[in-house]
Amino acid sequence: MKVNITGASHFVNRMFEACGTYQWAREFLVNSLEANATRVEFGIEWQGVKKHGIYRRTISDNADGMTGEELIRFFSTLGAGGKKIGGIHENFGVGAKIASLPWNPEGVVVISYKNRRAAMIWIVLDPDSGEYELIEFDVNGQKTCAPVPSVIDGIDWNAASPAWLREHGTMVVLMGSKRQPDTVLGNADAAESNIKDLSLYLNTRFWDLSRYDVRVAELRSERKNLWPQKPNERNASRRPNNRRILGACYFLTQFKAPRGGKLNDSGTLPIDGDRVSADWYLSEGERPAIYSYAKNTGYIAIFYKGELFQVTSNKAHFRWFGITESAVQQNLTIIVKPQLYEPKQRPWGIYPDQSRNRLLFTASGDKGAEIPLSGWGMKFAESLPASILEAIRRARSGIAGYLDDETYRKRLQDKFGNRWNMKVLVQASRDDHKKKETGKLTEESRKIYERSNYQGTGRLHKRRKAVKVVQLRFQAIPGGEDLVLEAKTPVDVPRFRMAHSDEFDQPWHFAAWVPNDPEGPTVIINIDSPILEEVITYHQTEYPDIYAEEVAKIVCRVFGEVAACKIAHSQKLTRLITEEEVNRDYRNEQALTLGLMGLIAEDSLIGQRLSSLGIRRTEPQLLQSTAERTRALKRPA
Ligand SMILES: Nc1ncnc2c1ncn2[C@@H]1O[C@H](COP(=O)(O)OP(=O)(O)OP(=O)(O)O)[C@@H](O)[C@H]1O
Ligand SMILES: [Mg+2]
Repeated sequence: MKVNITGASHFVNRMFEACGTYQWAREFLVNSLEANATRVEFGIEWQGVKKHGIYRRTISDNADGMTGEELIRFFSTLGAGGKKIGGIHENFGVGAKIASLPWNPEGVVVISYKNRRAAMIWIVLDPDSGEYELIEFDVNGQKTCAPVPSVIDGIDWNAASPAWLREHGTMVVLMGSKRQPDTVLGNADAAESNIKDLSLYLNTRFWDLSRYDVRVAELRSERKNLWPQKPNERNASRRPNNRRILGACYFLTQFKAPRGGKLNDSGTLPIDGDRVSADWYLSEGERPAIYSYAKNTGYIAIFYKGELFQVTSNKAHFRWFGITESAVQQNLTIIVKPQLYEPKQRPWGIYPDQSRNRLLFTASGDKGAEIPLSGWGMKFAESLPASILEAIRRARSGIAGYLDDETYRKRLQDKFGNRWNMKVLVQASRDDHKKKETGKLTEESRKIYERSNYQGTGRLHKRRKAVKVVQLRFQAIPGGEDLVLEAKTPVDVPRFRMAHSDEFDQPWHFAAWVPNDPEGPTVIINIDSPILEEVITYHQTEYPDIYAEEVAKIVCRVFGEVAACKIAHSQKLTRLITEEEVNRDYRNEQALTLGLMGLIAEDSLIGQRLSSLGIRRTEPQLLQSTAERTRALKRPA
């Protein structure tokens, strides 16, 4: 006879789908720490190895332990546990169950010791009913779901756990599925198959584990025929590696690289009053030899109750924070710390979703929203700390100043200023005759055009003459009580600069848009892009060698200006969709790359400007093949 688990199995399966990879490891580790463990070991169950050649992952701790009765109660009911359950920041009573049962239909065995007395349970999926159940054992004629551990299916469960937990502590064994009985690397169906990834996950998800002794038994090869036969394997290349897990903080602050790499500077930047702050860590020099069991390069993450969420090293995300240079991205980690949402007292902040794989955000009633990371990034970019700016300058020094002429912006602004107008909401004054509405003022000011109807005074100037006046007013957004009106504003022409290919998602991408650049909104042009190189080479072949560099500069400048114009013009789309959508869908690297591949418009501009260089190459020189020319240009001087 079996005991049904109350709470539908469908619910477990559905919640599991929202879990991230290795989340089972997080749930078991947190359970152990919440039950006062000082030692937790992600180990291997060795009897299965010896008898059946099966490698099962175990999680053992020296925490408080559970009695047989507690085991049944806590694991056979969803939403049940020994801790306070309810609030969005408290325990849900589901963690370990939802993260482990669906990929372990053969079962999860939990053996627990409390006051030296042991009990075990075995939860399985009943293939007929599709329900999770506790196996009922027959012990000397008595039926029980929580027997004293003994020999079952050839494994002596009493001898399975390490000796150090026999006073109080718990061991979980993941039994996998018929198809995937080896659970030592994790859930094979979820691509958990890399030998270092469990350590990497724990070292990235948890901020600081240095107060505990947390260890992972790591295998040394992905190939099963090279796995160890016993814990104290003689052959060092097979013996499991007992890696201590320390958490992300250690690798940002304590590490030392063999040749001088170290933490250069760190600090905290308030991003949004006392609601959001960002801790940043900037390292310098060679990266430490972490290999792959912890994060070795910079990332951005959100901190929530000792754990890191939404960890990203995505270039686009770094750009939100004003960091484009990959040399700086490699060395900079930003830990964003928003305040927690409290349903009644504090209606602004973050909280985890049901599966605890993602964080959600609520601001004044707008529930369950995405974390506004791009906005927070912009605030960070606005006040970049001095040492980060210094690192950016150093990274840029190679090509900075290659094109430092800014007159084009004024020229373009003068040329298109009238055509690239946009309607915006701005603060209204009492003297305004225009229709007023209500909105909310922001701290940003905007240039607006005002037409004042000026009556000429001279006798001959009876006609009305419109005069354009430029004013500076605070910008506003809809929703609020302030008096605002709609006005025209000229679109700003962004800056551009040249950058190397490692600042782009793909080395062949031509351009990228960085609205949060510390120097102001900027288009970056990939100086290494093969498309640009081809255009430059083509035009260089047309002019004598001494102009090679001048030609290259003119071509780069034309593409930079054209890209800047495309961005400025596309600002008009914000009348139809949000700026965030314009940036994401119309100004991403792919879109800009395609947008700049046309040649007709650019060539005519390039041609115009090159004509100032004077005479083109003479006949015999022109006969040289383009390929030869390219080779010649690439030869070091
Ligand atoms: N290693 C352990 N040592 C002692 N008690 C444990 C251990 N693991 C689980 N428990 C008990 O089992 C209960 C159920 O664990 P489970 O992870 O399913 O839910 P929870 O931890 O209460 O809530 P959450 O959904 O937040 O994880 C826990 O509340 C705890 O009382
Ligand atoms: Mg839990």
